[in-house]
Amino acid sequence: MKKYIVEGGNPLFGEVQISGAKNAAVAIIPAALMVDGVCRIENMPQISDATLLMSILQDMGAHIRVLNKSTVEIDCSSLHNARIPYDSARRCRASYYLIGALLGRFGAADVALPGGCDFGGTRPIDQHLKGFHALGAQVEVQGGFIDARAVDGDRLHGANIFLDKVSVGATINIMLAAALADGYTVIENVAKEPHIVDVANFLNSMGANIKGAGTDIIKIRGVERLHGGTYSIIPDQIEAGTYMAAVAACGGQIKVCNIIPKHMDCITAKLLEMGVEVEEIDDNLLVRRIGPLVKTNIKTMPYPGFPTDMQPQMAAALCLAHGTSIITESIFSSRFRYTEEFKRMGAQIQVDGNLAVIEGVDHLTGAQVEACDLRAGAAMIIAALAAYGTSEIRGVQYIERGYENVIEKFRGLGGNISVSEIPDEEEALSAG
Ligand code: EPZ
Repeated sequence: MKKYIVEGGNPLFGEVQISGAKNAAVAIIPAALMVDGVCRIENMPQISDATLLMSILQDMGAHIRVLNKSTVEIDCSSLHNARIPYDSARRCRASYYLIGALLGRFGAADVALPGGCDFGGTRPIDQHLKGFHALGAQVEVQGGFIDARAVDGDRLHGANIFLDKVSVGATINIMLAAALADGYTVIENVAKEPHIVDVANFLNSMGANIKGAGTDIIKIRGVERLHGGTYSIIPDQIEAGTYMAAVAACGGQIKVCNIIPKHMDCITAKLLEMGVEVEEIDDNLLVRRIGPLVKTNIKTMPYPGFPTDMQPQMAAALCLAHGTSIITESIFSSRFRYTEEFKRMGAQIQVDGNLAVIEGVDHLTGAQVEACDLRAGAAMIIAALAAYGTSEIRGVQYIERGYENVIEKFRGLGGNISVSEIPDEEEALSAG
């Protein structure tokens, strides 16, 4: 196991290139199994979730060719349906997209229930299953597996589906299954995140007929098959926002390169309220924080609202803002476990259910902390870079699930961060 060692207290300066969007990639890789041909996917992020999902496809007979560090070819022409084992599915929440993709292509899926980030609280998939049932699948959950199969033969049929809750995962999973269903599907009350539009665009570039992604209603006319093609994944809105939050916390000036400015609007608006300067230059943002940080309030909402995946990173900056800030987490029942770690660094945070009240302090002090999920881990790097002194961050495997070359990118901004192995005896002790 590894840990990150961070020497904090210095501002950040430099440029950072943003990689392909993790939450698009982890849906597009499962979607590739629906394609009877070769998918050439560009701007693929080098993250462990993507690597894991591609290895699952290979175990099912897909042929994968790595052309360069961010381009892969996935050929699922000869892929065979197979049960997705627990030890694969549990390591990546996005493994649930394999259900929709397998149902779409083969009319059957047998996938272990997903794992992924544990914020505390449950992460149900009832809306996914509601959609599959409406599309004509019989769905059974038993023994930790989801067994779904088309009732009529080996193909699903079109349906009208109204989601009870705005859900990114359910929106994408139902879209996958419906893309190859026989007939017309309308999904209402859908999520509108940029990565949902990206998955729809990927499917359409392979011959699907999907309209309305990014709006409240998605309309899908099922097709017989999907052909191969080339697609480039959009830049990662949350990765970009993470580096923007880092310079807000640490001070300095950075250029965030290769982004889609429109996707950053909700994050930029909040940073401007906090006294951060953001200037759009083509597909880049110049982000500068010279003066004091100012408190603000944040309420996480579905896109185009403020993203829940940016909540921990912004909390790290707000720990250093003058005044009292309030964060309301409205997407997940609780997503504040990381605040206990910030308190070890001297942060003044009170959590009550889905509310966090942050009293800004003059500075944080380096400490040993542990990441409990992907975005909390990124937030701990931010807090450690802003803190005076040395921090050690454990649980870095969560961070590397979704952040490509995170050490190199922060070093490129002048961050003093290194990796070291945790001695076995120390690891055994920390395992309690
Ligand atoms: C996706 O998770 C992302 N993960 C999450 O990003 C992100 O936080 C979340 O969307 C919200 O934007 C991936 O894309 C792999 P939801 P997902 O379904 O699909 C409830 C990261 O850091 N719900 O939009 O699981 C659910 O409990 C990760 O990159 C149901 O009740 O999120 C939550 O309260 C963390 N029933 C709310 O809806 C369902 O069937 C939104 O969840 C599905 C969801």
